Parts: sequence; C-alpha cells; structure tokens
Amino acid sequence: MEELYFSWKDQIMDIVRRWGEVGVPGKYHVIGVLGMGGSGVVGDYLAMLSSLRGGLPVIVSKSHLLPRTISSDDLVFAISYSGNTLETRLAVDKALRIGARIVVVSSDGLLEKLAVEKNIPFVGVVKGVAPRTALPSMLFAILSVLDASGLGVVSRGEAEGVAGFLDDVMRDAMNTAYDIADFIESSRGLLIIAGHSPWEALLIRGKNEFNENSKIPVKVDVAPEWMHNDIVGYEKPYRFPACVLAVKDPGDDAGSRLVDFMIDTYKGLGYPVKVLELRGASDLEKLMYGSLVMGLASVRLARMRGLDPLATESIHRYKSMVNEIFGV
Ligand code: PA5
Repeated sequence: MEELYFSWKDQIMDIVRRWGEVGVPGKYHVIGVLGMGGSGVVGDYLAMLSSLRGGLPVIVSKSHLLPRTISSDDLVFAISYSGNTLETRLAVDKALRIGARIVVVSSDGLLEKLAVEKNIPFVGVVKGVAPRTALPSMLFAILSVLDASGLGVVSRGEAEGVAGFLDDVMRDAMNTAYDIADFIESSRGLLIIAGHSPWEALLIRGKNEFNENSKIPVKVDVAPEWMHNDIVGYEKPYRFPACVLAVKDPGDDAGSRLVDFMIDTYKGLGYPVKVLELRGASDLEKLMYGSLVMGLASVRLARMRGLDPLATESIHRYKSMVNEIFGV
C-alpha cells in the first residue's frame, strides 16, 4: 500500500495533463461537495482552501441528505471513488431533482454510468487504488474543474509545483512517518491528534487514515475551540492511556503557541506527545505534506501491528447492509 502514497506526484501530474478539460462556467452562490469517507474529506480540503483563498463558500455534505442551503443556482461536486456509495448517490438524486449543476468525480461505478446517461460533466480519477489513497487525484480533479470554470483557487502551474514538492519531501515524509508510527505503537493508548485552526480538515483526514489503515480509534482536538470546552474535559478525565500527535504550522506563531498550550495540559496528564511540523511553502503544500506523513504513518503502524492496512472489513460489512438500512 505504501507505493500508493509514493505515487501521489503521478496522480497530480495525471490531472495536470488533463487540466481544464472539464469546465462548468456559470454564476453560482455556493459550491456543494457530496461524498463520504476518503472521498468526502476532499470536500473539507476544498472548503479550507476556498476559505483561505477567497473562493466561493463550500458546503460539504457527508450524508444521504442534501442541505437545503444548496439550490438550483449552485454547483455540486458528487465525489465517490468507487462511484457506488449509496449515501452519495441518494444525495446526488436530490441535487438532480432540484436542478443544481452537477459534476461527477469518480473512478468508475454507478455514478460514472449516471453521468454518461444524463450527460453530466464527469472527471475520471486514478483507477484501481484504495479510495483514501486517491486523495490527490480527487482533490486536483475538482481544483482543475473550478479553474476551468473561472472559479479557481489553484492554478495548473501551482498544481504542477505541488507535484514537484511531494517528490522533494518524500524521503523526509517517510522518515517522519516511521517515527510517528514507532511513537504510537510504543505508547499504546488512545491517539489524540491535536492541532490548530485552519487545519481542521487535515486533522480529520489524519483521524480517518489511522482509523482505516491502522484500525484504531482516534480523537481530534482543535485549538482555539479546544480552549472553550475540551480543556475542561481534561480536568478530571477517567484515567485512560493516551498519546498525542500535535500538528503545528511553523509559519503560524499564534497557532503554534495554542498547540504548546495544549501540550502542557496533555503532559500534565502524563500523555506522551510527538510534534509534527507541517512542511511546505503554501497551505496546499502543507496540506499535502501532512496528509502524506499521516497516511504513511498509519500504514506503517498497521504493519507493526501485523494488520493489512488495505482491508476495511467493517466498511464492507456496512456496505453489504446499506440498501436495507436505507430501505432502497
Ligand atoms: O477510504 C475508504 O476506503 C472509505 O472511506 C471510502 O472512501 C468510503 O467508504 C466511501 O467510498 P467511496 O470513496 O468509494 O465513495
């Protein structure tokens, strides 16, 4: 599975070569992103980038429901790596019914079929990998459509630069990832991923990676909101073993000081702490670096525990029952 992360640069370059092939120019109020799990988190990344770079507001919906805030005046990305995820398909049906402008992003499946049948713009992504490892392909596919639609927050040139950056930092990312995996395996407690705004999406992505690849539960703590509720929960916790991966953007002094404040609390409770500093010259590079390190660390941790990082048995069990659950 490691090689799927090593080839992230190629995923980006594949999209760069097809940059702008699909565009949906228009006047939209918001951008909706409908998707679940490793696909849905791409919406969180887009929301972060759009918010930092002054793009349109992004509404991410990880649900079978369609938020009423999305209307026929809006652009909606239906994103599902397999193209078959029921919740995403149910939400897409609703978006079709209200007449929103839809773009499908997937590698295959029923959503691709729907796009062909209904003449919906479609961007195909890298085939034959685990959904969560297709993060760059799915993210840059959406960024390319937005750029071609006059709504861009990332240009083709920047995308190409990120591919080169990932190549440059790959060895460092791997070493850092292995250190983190050693740290978590030796601590053997609940993993807390702690960080600061505006990196919420990355912290959630890290959680998902350790859930799915390493098969462990993870708690996410985000400052400064943490200072207004979670912090009190650490005053008198039921005793449990825990360890903390603290994620900092070294270019953000206040953010780093917030995380230092959190670290004091964790250390006071005896939780071991490991710091991950985000590398990169831009928010996008830092996002990709953090995603790469936590992805590789989660795979490494699975190997150390004798587990198959690729297998997600319980998701398959859920998916085998999902039609029955939703009554379709
Ligand atoms: O990473 C994974 O394998 C999962 O989180 C999937 O992304 C999730 O189950 C949704 O499936 P898909 O991405 O095919 O829509």
